[in-house]
Amino acid sequence: MTQENYQREIKSSEILGRILFPGKEIQKKVKELGNKITLDYFGKEIILICILRGAVVFLTDLIKHIDLPLSIDFMSISSYGFSPIDSGLVKITKDLDENIEGKHVLIVEDIIDTGLTLSYMIRNLQLRNPASIEICTLIDREVRRIANIKIKYSAFKLEEKYVVGYGLDYKQRYRNLESIYELKTDTVKKDIESLKSSLK
Ligand code: IMP
Ligand code: MG
Repeated sequence: MTQENYQREIKSSEILGRILFPGKEIQKKVKELGNKITLDYFGKEIILICILRGAVVFLTDLIKHIDLPLSIDFMSISSYGFSPIDSGLVKITKDLDENIEGKHVLIVEDIIDTGLTLSYMIRNLQLRNPASIEICTLIDREVRRIANIKIKYSAFKLEEKYVVGYGLDYKQRYRNLESIYELKTDTVKKDIESLKSSLK
């Protein structure tokens, strides 16, 4: 199957809803963010910490628009239990390779929902004595926020919808779509119901 056919097939599927953020609009916003970061950190060196895996696509586009000396590193975090809300516990499954002491850190995230994962991560990184820590997220879904976190850079705001594409997944798929799509809620509901019955 060619790439074009694959994209056409999934776009007409039962799973994807309408496009919320078209690829072109994403590229424009990412460029604007990169320019803003360049101005804000002028004369400084930064380290961008990408939270795996969803933020990878955003990171690789973003760094091309930051005109500063920079390095990148990766961190992976998973929650214990069914969700971070239930357990309130998160663990680092892949730590940084670099030492961030005295460095200006910019955390790059795909979407911030409850903010619980990120607030754990910030507390953890602060113990390593960086010069500063700021957050750059592609999407800010503020309506479900629980943790009190300050987001310096965000490209898009979103309400309750679950979205996929441009790095964001549903069951590890759809990360390779260039636009961001709404997921059809019926699909998610069915999945949650079957998950619940399997846990009984
Ligand atoms: P929270 O802010 O700790 O609740 O979790 C945010 C994380 O959940 C993000 O980094 C994503 O990996 C994932 N996530 C939340 N909402 C979505 C979505 O709409 N699509 C895909 N992943 C999501
Ligand atoms: Mg994520």
